[in-house]
Amino acid sequence: MLKFRNDDLYIENVKLSDIAKEYGTSTYVYSKQQIISNFENYKKAMVLRDGLICFACKTNSSGAILKILAGLGAGADTTSGGEIYRCLKAGFNPSNIVYAGVGKTAEEIEYALKSKIFMFNVESFEELDIIDKIAGKMKRKANIAFRINPYVNPDTHSYIATGKKGTKFGIPYEDAVKAYLTAKKKKNISVVGIHYHIGSQILEVEPFVVAAKKIKKIVDEVEMNGMWISYIDCGGGLGIKYEKGEKVPSPKCLISEIFSVFDKDKKFIFEPGRSIIGNAGHLLAKVLYRKMSGGKSFLITDVGMNDLIRPTLYDAYHEIVPVKKTRVKKVRSDVVGPICESGDFMGKDRMLPIVDQGEYLLVTCAGAYGAAMSSEYNSRPPLAEVLVDGKQTKLIRKRASYKDLVFNEIL
Ligand code: LLP
Repeated sequence: MLKFRNDDLYIENVKLSDIAKEYGTSTYVYSKQQIISNFENYKKAMVLRDGLICFACKTNSSGAILKILAGLGAGADTTSGGEIYRCLKAGFNPSNIVYAGVGKTAEEIEYALKSKIFMFNVESFEELDIIDKIAGKMKRKANIAFRINPYVNPDTHSYIATGKKGTKFGIPYEDAVKAYLTAKKKKNISVVGIHYHIGSQILEVEPFVVAAKKIKKIVDEVEMNGMWISYIDCGGGLGIKYEKGEKVPSPKCLISEIFSVFDKDKKFIFEPGRSIIGNAGHLLAKVLYRKMSGGKSFLITDVGMNDLIRPTLYDAYHEIVPVKKTRVKKVRSDVVGPICESGDFMGKDRMLPIVDQGEYLLVTCAGAYGAAMSSEYNSRPPLAEVLVDGKQTKLIRKRASYKDLVFNEIL
């Protein structure tokens, strides 16, 4: 939903320079229509089977965005009590909420049970024991799936590959059947599914299929032992196009390949995050200063690594574009922020048209793991967030103030 009309970059029907003037910078800007279209793509891909699309809300847990997705009929994939709270507040039906995570606390488990979420994705034998105990105390039965580590190593940054041998995630593949047999004996546990999630920003279908086939083997073995697995929760992980030339499989292609691995009577859960919100959000920055140093050109902006950590943490590429096409001549520049670290950059060695002090740049495709991973490092107040819908813009999160920074401190 980003395009140039004449010399101005628009998001839907709004000029990005107008957003910068009205709401200030730096600001996260989201396209509602892009979110809807991304979600609809998943919905269409799911038509042939029963199941749920659970938005991985760790990607972006802004209330207004969660509300849009809840309104579209999405479920939610959560990873903490706080995320469950946000999702309930945004209107998700608790029976459409799944809860994964290697370190669920007793308080979080109790809160999830009280909230009547659909299913726990259990990641260890000890966690199973605790859930059983707490559910017993509350006179409840907990629906569970085991998150199985399928030992698949997709081609992505090592920090976000989660389904390979030696990571902390899930039940080790060789213990999977034993986990189900253990759960069978627990009074307060009801086994409803199996879960796996191999990683994030994956651009090929193949590792997803390899994982699905390994999971199918476990399903068969568990069912031979007299248990029934109704839900296959395939996790998230489908990548998006950050860089020109990158090819991204469609949800339809991914999902139909996975469907073909399992029997027709299974229900499915998918947990997309990035592929729902990644290309729907962008980060609007202002050029504060320009300088040459050590033979290099620097554009110093008001966006720091505290606002978008992905380039620093994963060496991630986000395309950066001026919101006005004013000049043709390009200069190779580093786009950096005001934080006191050399790792504080949005892009290095970028060929960008010459921009003046005070002009605006857009760091694109920052909707996923952008605002959600931001911090107040260097005491920089969290940014404003704006939602665009057609011609309309709406402030969905106020820019925080200096006072907000010390709000919870006891002096
Ligand atoms: N389900 C589970 C259990 C997950 O752990 C994740 C992401 C997802 C679903 C959603 O994956 P997606 O569809 O968004 O790829 N901060 C990193 C990505 C971390 C992914 C964590 N888990 C980044 O900025 O690239």
